[in-house]
Amino acid sequence: MVPGMKENDRGLSRRGFLTAAAAGAGLLTGGFPLTGNASPMLAKVIPSTGERIPAMGMGSYLTFNVGRDERARAQRVRVLQTFIDAGGGMLDSSPMYGASEEVIGYCLKRVRNPEKVFSATKVWTPFTARGVKQIENSGRLWGEDRLDLFQVHNLLNWEAHLAELHRRKEQGKIRYVGITTSHGRSHREFERVMRSERLDFVQLTYNPLDLEVEDRLLPLAAERGIAVIVNRPFRRGGLIDRLDGEPLPGFAAELGARTWAQLLLKFVISHPAVTVAIPATRRPDHARENMDAAAGPMPDAKLRQAIIKAVEAA
Ligand SMILES: NC(=O)c1ccc[n+]([C@@H]2O[C@H](COP(=O)([O-])OP(=O)(O)OC[C@H]3O[C@@H](n4cnc5c(N)ncnc54)[C@H](OP(=O)(O)O)[C@@H]3O)[C@@H](O)[C@H]2O)c1
Repeated sequence: MVPGMKENDRGLSRRGFLTAAAAGAGLLTGGFPLTGNASPMLAKVIPSTGERIPAMGMGSYLTFNVGRDERARAQRVRVLQTFIDAGGGMLDSSPMYGASEEVIGYCLKRVRNPEKVFSATKVWTPFTARGVKQIENSGRLWGEDRLDLFQVHNLLNWEAHLAELHRRKEQGKIRYVGITTSHGRSHREFERVMRSERLDFVQLTYNPLDLEVEDRLLPLAAERGIAVIVNRPFRRGGLIDRLDGEPLPGFAAELGARTWAQLLLKFVISHPAVTVAIPATRRPDHARENMDAAAGPMPDAKLRQAIIKAVEAA
């Protein structure tokens, strides 16, 4: 049991506990581990339930798709343990990511406090019946009876899959339902689905060079009370390469950002409509660095513009 919990808190679901532990504050404190920065980690509210989750999560595309390679698996166990120890919450995957879900299941069996992970995966198939099998298979691969969030990956066959996911949510088999897209895809249909369907989460791309979602999707999510997951915060690493060797702007120190990666993540999670960013990494030190970005000061509107300018100029 986490220090600070009362005995009768055991009755809460593990996510309910997240809500209760951080109630009334934007920061995870009390029983939660703090990041390498001495300040507490930013947590955000999931509008549909009021539950709070850490504003920094983790992706698994490519990074956890390591097949049977034992050394790579052991390294991913260390990545996941670092993520959890630093207070991490959402771990995002998909059946599209090869062996990732199976490797996540392997890692979850080997880490301390696996219950702290907020499990998020997807359904990704044009076939309705296959979707049902995929959803059940994901639970088996993760080794969890009830995954937290299922998303329709890139809106593929979304009508049928969303109906199935809502049925499962009503039966208590999953907790949240969402849809995903990423940079380069048309957002028109995504916006239509956001307007017409009941959604707990949307997932989309946002970073200082991919700002399109600021115009319509982020305001719409805020208006409709939908939590936002941000994928590709580093443009799959391209932004990190672009900024390599560039000096950090002077204001980075004010924000407690030691690296460009941290500055990029602070940019993403400081948008008021954003709930959680999910950077992916193969490296425990990067996992730690990314988690640390969710602690300490966040950029205000003026500094957010300054980050965009600095990245554009690089
Ligand atoms: N449509 C969808 O549903 C969709 C689409 C795209 C992505 N996603 C989700 O979003 C997640 C994130 O997107 P992504 O994986 O495409 O790209 P990303 O998170 O933008 O970038 C990943 C790259 O950044 C590097 N990196 C991570 N932390 C770093 C740090 N602190 N310093 C330097 N480099 C760092 C990683 O290299 P190292 O391994 O060396 O750290 C990796 O090459 C995915 O894994 C996936 O879960 C979903």
